[in-house]
Amino acid sequence: MTRLVLALVPALATSASAADTGFRDTAAPFLTAHCVKCHGPDKPAGGVRLDDLPADPAKDVERWAAVRDQVRDGLMPPAKEPKPDAAQARAVVAWVSGATGAKAARLPNSGNLIPHELLFGKPAAAGDAPAPRVWRLSPDAYVGFASQVFRGKLNGLVQPFTLIPERGIKDFAGLYAIDEPSTEILVRNAEAMVEAQTTAKNDGVREFVTLVNTAEPTRVQLEAAVQLQFKMAIGRAATADEAARFARLYEKCAGTGDRPGAVKTMLQAVLLKTDAVYRSELGGKADGTGRRMLAPAELVTAVSLALGDKRDAGLAAAAAKGELATREQVAAHVGRLLDSPREADRVRVFRFFREYFEYDNATDVFKDKPKTFIHEPRQLVADTDRLVRHVLAADRDVFRELLTTPVSFVNYTTKENKQTRKQDPARAVVPNPNNNKGQAGVESVYGLEEWPAVQPAALPANTRLGVLMQPSWLAAWSTNFDNDPVRRGRWVRERLLGGTVPDLPIGVAAQVPDDPHRTFRDRLTVTRDAACWKCHQRMDDLGLPFEQFDHYGRFRTAEPVLDPEATAKNVDKKGKPLGPVHRDAKLDTTGTVADSGDPKLDGPVTDPRDLVRRIAASDRARQVFVRHAFRYFLGRNETLADAKALQDADRAYTESGGSFKAVVMALLTSDSFLYRSGM
Ligand code: HEC
Ligand code: HEC
Repeated sequence: MTRLVLALVPALATSASAADTGFRDTAAPFLTAHCVKCHGPDKPAGGVRLDDLPADPAKDVERWAAVRDQVRDGLMPPAKEPKPDAAQARAVVAWVSGATGAKAARLPNSGNLIPHELLFGKPAAAGDAPAPRVWRLSPDAYVGFASQVFRGKLNGLVQPFTLIPERGIKDFAGLYAIDEPSTEILVRNAEAMVEAQTTAKNDGVREFVTLVNTAEPTRVQLEAAVQLQFKMAIGRAATADEAARFARLYEKCAGTGDRPGAVKTMLQAVLLKTDAVYRSELGGKADGTGRRMLAPAELVTAVSLALGDKRDAGLAAAAAKGELATREQVAAHVGRLLDSPREADRVRVFRFFREYFEYDNATDVFKDKPKTFIHEPRQLVADTDRLVRHVLAADRDVFRELLTTPVSFVNYTTKENKQTRKQDPARAVVPNPNNNKGQAGVESVYGLEEWPAVQPAALPANTRLGVLMQPSWLAAWSTNFDNDPVRRGRWVRERLLGGTVPDLPIGVAAQVPDDPHRTFRDRLTVTRDAACWKCHQRMDDLGLPFEQFDHYGRFRTAEPVLDPEATAKNVDKKGKPLGPVHRDAKLDTTGTVADSGDPKLDGPVTDPRDLVRRIAASDRARQVFVRHAFRYFLGRNETLADAKALQDADRAYTESGGSFKAVVMALLTSDSFLYRSGM
């Protein structure tokens, strides 16, 4: 068949109007005073030259971003050098962030680039509209697309798109290139979809089945088929021009004699159209200020795919009637979808919390099967899913509830009651007397001896609170044999405090000594070495309170360690060793919040509950949470120009008593979502 080229609108660079003065007045003097001495033309330290940076950061984003990160994180100049003035350093970071803004925004996973104070420090006025963008469907949205084209079961469909396999919010606008392997998969998928559509059995599309069996299809029949395919694949009618173009494609191919083949090629071509697999947000007509609101057809996709995986029929109908042209009209549809009884209409709201907390990674951490209890990570994840949905359904104080709720779902599922036809609570994983001999059930991981029939259930007092103490989260942020206080601490630093940690440098042996007679906390003291501590001071003390739990997520009051003396004595009569003996070492669950940026938050904590309660009550942590929601629902990183959208969303949250729906509503009706700059 004819290969269709998937055109890509080139990335649209940011204009750097204020760049020159910012460089002259702010950055250049700072670099000269603090950096160029070591990073000049002769043998620049670390191979990095800073004397020849372009005045416009957009022209060398990589080097400027490195400067910004080093200055923001206080890593450069090195500790033995005079410390730069803090306000000057902040001004440099702010200027670089602003001037690289639009480009940096596309980098996946580079969250918290902009210091929090610059976004929330003072009331923000409306910023410049973001640049137009085109991005491809997410893997989930591609599945949604396929299911709209063909409702039956599709064989042979391969997922063409992947997300970056890293940490953080993954569904980013940065992922817009469709590479060659993906293109080939898309073409093969289009063939498979049209094959299914044109086959009478398995729910083929009646009109298409008829068309391939028609000896001489007329122009009218062909164009009607194109219209139908457009509606299913793209959610809008084809223009007269488009309909004619696709019909001509049929005529060209039918010239070879294979008429059914030509019909299929024509139908496939629609599925490969750019607007079927890309999301286009270029903006419609310019308003008085030169910025452009997304066109109605763009809004259909933008709103539908911000909340779900499919184009929503109600939005498409509104756009067709010219009723998707104002902020209020968008708001009405966002509200409708958020309140929809079908979770599919707004499933990305729930999924945000999986991406944010990443508790679902528990299933990826391999652990030995414990002898005395059942470790079933999939069920642990399902329990936390249920808890998230429970908190979202109440939609009050959502952030604080998620962090501090004392209740939990425990080994929970539902089963239909044959008499009442209702879904009754049921124990999900039931121990099998043959396979699970001597093992306690999944509930034991939560600290309960019996499965609680009423759920969510209160857990034993003073043991655990909220998602970070759910066994799923603890297992997700653990290793095969141990807790992982470093990565847990990093999570808290980034996701709750809005801080950053420079990446682990290549070549550093990131290992704690393998001394089974010492506690993990004690072994982790290797990172107190100054060369390590400059980074690890941002993580370790935030993660160590979670030593309260073992690496399966069980509450404990002591940490078992090897007892070398007792092990040496543990021999049979002939002196043959009988195996290791453990003793209980004293458990230390203390930690510290330091350098959070909020003086009220900083200070020592006694245990993980203390840590989480303190954070949950903080304005800053709540705002950081809103920043993450922004990234997820707008599909890009925030820039300085988004300060107002962020502040409005935060205000909507507090004024509504902590409604997450209010946050999503504010984000999806913000200028940052609705408008694009002129091209
Ligand atoms: C006293 C000398 C000295 C001064 C002053 C200095 N640096 Fe460095 N810089 C180094 C050395 C040595 C390295 C390489 C080793 C390292 O990363 O610690 C380095 C590395 C870097 C790197 C690369 C880091 C990486 O991880 O790739 C950047 C970027 C950098 N410096 C920026 C700056 C900036 C910005 C300033 C001024 C605010 C500055 N440096 C001041 C000595 C210096
Ligand atoms: C430039 C910052 C930086 C420096 C310097 C650094 N680390 Fe780390 N380290 C990290 C980060 C970031 C992580 C978390 C990696 C991740 O998220 O997977 C980490 C993780 C670790 C871990 C845990 C590995 C795991 O599986 O979770 C250990 C142990 C560790 N580092 C030890 C050290 C030691 C020892 C030194 C000094 C010799 C050191 N690090 C220096 C940033 C650093």
